[in-house]
Amino acid sequence: MAAALSADDYRVRFVVPGPAMRRVQTDRYEADLESPESLAELHRLLVAADDAPVGAVFNFLGLSEPFCHAGWPAADAPLAVSLWTFNVVKEFESDLRTSAEEGGGWFINLTSLGGKFGVDSERKAALTAAPTIGIAKTLLRENPKLVVKSIDVDAGLAPASLAAQLLAELAAGDPLVEVGLSRQGRWQLKLEKDPVQHDASDLVLEPGSVVLVTGGAYGVTADVAKALAERWQPRLVLVGRSPLPGPEPSEVAGKTPAELRRHLLAAAKSSGQRVVPADIERQIARLLKDRQIRANVEACRAAGAEVEYLALDVRDAGALSGLLDDLYARYGRIDGVVHGAGIVEDKRIRDKTADSFANVFRTKVTSATVLAEKLRPEGLKFLVFFSSVSGRFGNAGQVDYSAANEFLNKLANYLDARWPGKVVAMNWGPWDGGMVTDELRRMYATVGFDMIPIDVGVQYFTREIERSRRRSAEVVVSGSVERMLAMGHAE
Ligand SMILES: NC(=O)c1ccc[n+]([C@@H]2O[C@H](COP(=O)([O-])OP(=O)(O)OC[C@H]3O[C@@H](n4cnc5c(N)ncnc54)[C@H](OP(=O)(O)O)[C@@H]3O)[C@@H](O)[C@H]2O)c1
Repeated sequence: MAAALSADDYRVRFVVPGPAMRRVQTDRYEADLESPESLAELHRLLVAADDAPVGAVFNFLGLSEPFCHAGWPAADAPLAVSLWTFNVVKEFESDLRTSAEEGGGWFINLTSLGGKFGVDSERKAALTAAPTIGIAKTLLRENPKLVVKSIDVDAGLAPASLAAQLLAELAAGDPLVEVGLSRQGRWQLKLEKDPVQHDASDLVLEPGSVVLVTGGAYGVTADVAKALAERWQPRLVLVGRSPLPGPEPSEVAGKTPAELRRHLLAAAKSSGQRVVPADIERQIARLLKDRQIRANVEACRAAGAEVEYLALDVRDAGALSGLLDDLYARYGRIDGVVHGAGIVEDKRIRDKTADSFANVFRTKVTSATVLAEKLRPEGLKFLVFFSSVSGRFGNAGQVDYSAANEFLNKLANYLDARWPGKVVAMNWGPWDGGMVTDELRRMYATVGFDMIPIDVGVQYFTREIERSRRRSAEVVVSGSVERMLAMGHAE
């Protein structure tokens, strides 16, 4: 590729990961891709050497050691390749924007999931770099004038043939973002409309079944947990970081947010404390969240489920792994898992820190890799990942969340093809609940996105786990799919 590009008068510079920034040869550099300072130094050198902004970045990390191996990612490898890619994108984004004005501004991301993004399950798929697909799509969402492509290749292609196909793809000027290249040629991912039939279900959760629901005491995952309780009365194991709240203190019981505010302000003043409005708001949010957790746990019990609530941070791989061991030791089974734990810390790529990226990412990905590692597939009837349209389409302000959800999508494909039970990643559009704040509601209304009513979302969830017929493990449920497609890139 480099030879062909050089022959076309492009100046090609190679960067490989290393312990620190150094120029190895005229056109070869090493940089510590984990360090923004190292990348900034690389950037200064490149611009000084060529007296021009960088016009294109090709990200070959997904085809390189140690991220290119088929199958299972080593524990922190998805985060490492994602942070390296994020740091590179963040450092060179402004150059790409400048170059886009003159026909450049390309970001070409490569992965090795078999040439069809892992959808054709028989092929060998290197899952580790799957999150970089979400990074690429979000970069485009934040910079619609760039040329962004996420190209998934079959690692079995001969290098010369792969290079020729890549060059042809770049020369074609086709705006398709997600492109697969394999021995069968060029391939495109397409959303297929669901015929919305209710297939005969073969899902049976007999009494004593154990269902683990991460994030299941609060938010939209709690609505799904309540539906599971009503439908099957299983043993529900709900997990969240919040400590299990005790009974609501009588002085705040039943108070509305406005009444709570008045009460807390009065209490702070009478005790002579300095009143900090942000602290008062935090206390109100906590009281309301505890109220919700209590009500959700009680509703599951009232529906006939045995409920255990465990305060555990799913980013802690050891703790989550210990919980799974403990459940198998106590009950000898885990019949179903809903992985709903997730957070957002929205900021554009240029403003986002690596720490925040890791925080959002690990909530979904570290935990998902532990689940995939420790669950015993032979007894598992379903594993549902709560993913997001942000993973499918990318979303401005959500580079980390998009990357994490793309990993869940590709992991679902991988596991569903190999496990006897059902594994599915549900790419939800915004629900009318959970992490969707009033501010977001107003924003969605402005851009014309319909939100998913809670009961409708729950129905789609139940229908999905009850479906016996195998179909895609990547499912999109959203009120405004066409609108999302229209606002984004051509697919
Ligand atoms: N609501 C939507 O519109 C929407 C759309 C697309 C996708 N989703 C996905 O659906 C899931 C639920 O979203 P939501 O809207 O219900 O969010 P939410 O209201 O903020 O609830 C998130 C849940 O995850 C738990 N959680 C977060 N970090 C955790 C951690 N490190 N360890 C254990 N539990 C953790 C939270 O409990 P604690 O705070 O107690 O830890 C809470 O129960 C997420 O995965 C989200 O990405 C939601």
